[in-house]
Amino acid sequence: MKKIISLIMVVAIMLCMFVGCGKTEQDNVITMATSADFEPYEYYENDKIVGIDIDIMNAVCEKIGMQLQPEDMSFDSVIGAAQTGKADIAMSGITITEDRKNMVDFTIPYTSTTQSIIVAHGSAITVKADLKDKKIGVQINTTGDTQVTEEFGDAAVDRYQNGALAVESLKNGKVDCVVIDGEVAKALVDANEGLEIIADAYSIEEYAIALQKGNTELLNKINGALEELLADGTIDEIIAKYITE
Ligand code: ARG
Repeated sequence: MKKIISLIMVVAIMLCMFVGCGKTEQDNVITMATSADFEPYEYYENDKIVGIDIDIMNAVCEKIGMQLQPEDMSFDSVIGAAQTGKADIAMSGITITEDRKNMVDFTIPYTSTTQSIIVAHGSAITVKADLKDKKIGVQINTTGDTQVTEEFGDAAVDRYQNGALAVESLKNGKVDCVVIDGEVAKALVDANEGLEIIADAYSIEEYAIALQKGNTELLNKINGALEELLADGTIDEIIAKYITE
């Protein structure tokens, strides 16, 4: 009996060595947690995830000799995936915040944005202060969510799985406005009739890539590549491909 058990163990150990037990990441592959509901940064075109973040990360991967493997999930799970190491990186239009710095390490910023306020044409809301006593739609766990919650209170905020669902609610009159990242707001307004963006009064937010705390080797590699891509204009070019002013 003992012999059989040790034989089974030996076989199991050999099998583990062969397939790499518990180790999901392959050499050369960078898994990227992302929430592909965020045009122009990450979204579906036919069956493919495309966008600014994908192009930038592909350019980074090319520089560091890796291959990118995006993994779509709700934004709610994206930062946790990097925090736990389930994904090598999280890149999803993620704003650097002090709270998040307690959970993950951030690369240098690769672009910036502010929050925008989307309303229906003819809305009485014309400045941010008008949001007082109104229903505000947001994507759950985004910086838009935290900011309006802080400023206007929990009861004022309706949280949605993504921006498109928040905009659906705006069109149905269930919320009075939607607060979301500027370029995404533009894409949503373009895709939907009867909406407009009012001048925003939010501070600048910087987007960066998140990694599990202590993954300094990969962090340094990505930072090195980002620095080069920022310096030689590649990142500007990628952004200009998606955002035409
Ligand atoms: N910049 C905002 C944040 O970091 C929103 C990001 C949402 N990203 C997405 N892919 N849905 O909270």
